Amino acid sequence: MQNRFAFVLLFFLIVAPFITGMGAMPQKPPAEETAPAKTEETGPAVGMTNLIQPHEYGSITLKRYTGEGQVIRSVVFPHWWHRTQFVCKVCHSDLGFEMKAGAGDIKMADIFAGKWCGACHNGTIAFAATTCDRCHSKDIEVKENRSFSETTKEYPADSYGNKINWAAALEQGKIKPKASLDGKEDILALDINVERPVKGGVMPGVIYPHKPHTQLLACGNCHTNIFEMKAGSTPITMNKINQGKYCGVCHGKVAFPLEDCFRCHSKK
Ligand code: HEC
Ligand code: HEC
Ligand code: HEC
Ligand code: HEC
Ligand code: HEC
Ligand code: HEC
Repeated sequence: MQNRFAFVLLFFLIVAPFITGMGAMPQKPPAEETAPAKTEETGPAVGMTNLIQPHEYGSITLKRYTGEGQVIRSVVFPHWWHRTQFVCKVCHSDLGFEMKAGAGDIKMADIFAGKWCGACHNGTIAFAATTCDRCHSKDIEVKENRSFSETTKEYPADSYGNKINWAAALEQGKIKPKASLDGKEDILALDINVERPVKGGVMPGVIYPHKPHTQLLACGNCHTNIFEMKAGSTPITMNKINQGKYCGVCHGKVAFPLEDCFRCHSKK
C-alpha cells in the first residue's frame, strides 16, 4: 500500500505534468479565463432549483483542470454528503476552501501531499485519493458512492433544494457533523436574531437567526467580508441576493434556495 501510494505520488509529481503538457492533447485555455464562467453554471437560477434532482442541489463540478479535452473526467463534489460529516467551517475556514465554485487551484500533487481534499482523503478520515473514479465521476455512476435517497430517507423533509430541512436534521440529531477535523471541537452557537424590516409592499420583515448559522459556520465566514457586525448597516436588497451576494452567497447554492421566501421573511 505504502509503495503504491509512493508510486502514484511520483507519477503526479513527475509524469503527469509532462503528459498533460503534451501537444497532442487538446488544451483548455488557462484557468483564469475559464474560472469565472463556472460560477454562473453551477448556481441554479432563481426559481429553477425544483427542476434539478434533490441529490444534485449543491453538488459542484470542478473542471479547471479536468473534463472535456483533458486526461481525466471532471470531479463532482457532493455537498449533501459532506455536510452530514463535517460542518461548513471545517472546509471553508480551517481548510481554506473558498465559497465560490472554481475558485480553488486544486492539483493532484497537493491532494496527495495532504492539502484540499487530501486533508481527509488520505485513507484515514476518508478513502484515499488512489480510487480515481469516486471523485472523477462526472456523467458516470459510481457504485461505491452512497445512494442519496437511501442515506437521507430518515431526514426531515422540505420542499426545495435537496428537499431536506438541514436545520431540523441537525436539531433532531439525524446528522452529527464534526466541528473540526479531529472531531474534538464543540459546536458553539450564538443565539441572537437580527430583524431587517421590509418597508412598503407586501413582504413581511426578515428575521436573521444567528443560531442555525453559527452551529455550522465561523464568524469570519460572514463578518465582515459579507455583513457588517451592526444590525441594519449592510445594504442588503433582494436584487443583490438574487445575484449571489449577501444571503445569496449560500442560499440558492448550498443552503435552502431563494424560492423559500417565508423562511427568511418570517416576521409575523
Ligand atoms: C468537505 C468540505 C466541505 C464542506 C464540509 C462544505 N463545503 Fe462548501 N465547498 C467545498 C468545496 C470543495 C467547494 C468548491 C470550492 C472551489 O471550487 O474552489 C465548496 C463551495 C461552496 C460554495 C460555492 C458554491 C457555488 O456554486 O459557487 C458555497 C456557497 C458553499 N461551499 C457553502 C457551504 C456550506 C453552507 C456548507 C455547510 C452547510 C459547506 N459549504 C460545507 C467544500 C466543502
Ligand atoms: C478525493 C477526490 C479525488 C480523487 C480520489 C482523485 N482526484 Fe484527481 N482531482 C481531484 C480534484 C478536486 C481535482 C481538481 C479538478 C479541477 O479543478 O478540474 C483533481 C485534478 C486531477 C487532475 C488534473 C490536475 C493535475 O493535478 O494534473 C488529474 C490529471 C487527476 N486529478 C488525476 C487523478 C487520478 C489519476 C486519480 C487516481 C489515482 C485521481 N485524480 C484521484 C480530486 C480527486
Ligand atoms: C473534511 C474532510 C473531507 C474533505 C476536505 C473532503 N472530503 Fe470527501 N469525504 C469525506 C468523508 C468522511 C467521506 C466518507 C468516507 C468514505 O467514504 O471513505 C467522503 C466521501 C466522499 C465522496 C463519496 C461520497 C459518497 O457518496 O459516498 C466523494 C465523491 C468525495 N468525498 C469527494 C471529495 C472531493 C472531490 C473533495 C475535495 C474537493 C473532498 N471529498 C474533500 C471527507 C472529506
Ligand atoms: C451566516 C452569516 C453570519 C455568521 C456566520 C455570523 N453572523 Fe453575525 N450577523 C450576520 C448578519 C446578516 C447580521 C446583520 C447585519 C446587518 O443587519 O447589517 C449580523 C450581525 C451581527 C451583530 C450585530 C448585532 C446587532 O444587534 O447589532 C453581531 C454582534 C454579530 N453579528 C456577531 C457575530 C458573531 C460573534 C458571530 C460568530 C459567533 C457571527 N456574528 C456569525 C450574519 C452572520
Ligand atoms: C435567504 C433569505 C431570503 C429569502 C429566501 C428571500 N428573501 Fe427577500 N429579502 C431578504 C433580505 C435579507 C432582504 C433585505 C431586507 C432589508 O431591507 O433589510 C430582503 C428583501 C426583500 C424585499 C424588499 C425589497 C428589496 O429588494 O430589498 C422583497 C420585496 C423581497 N425580499 C421579496 C422576496 C421574495 C418574493 C422571496 C421569495 C421568492 C424572497 N424575498 C426570498 C432575504 C430573503
Ligand atoms: C455563509 C453561508 C450563509 C449565508 C451568507 C446565509 N446563510 Fe442562512 N443558512 C445557511 C445554512 C448552511 C443554513 C442551514 C440550513 C440549510 O442549509 O438549508 C442556514 C439557515 C438559515 C435559516 C434557518 C432556517 C431554519 O429552519 O431554522 C434562515 C432563516 C436563514 N438561513 C436566513 C438567512 C438570511 C436572511 C441570510 C442573509 C441575511 C442568510 N441566511 C445568510 C447558510 C448561510
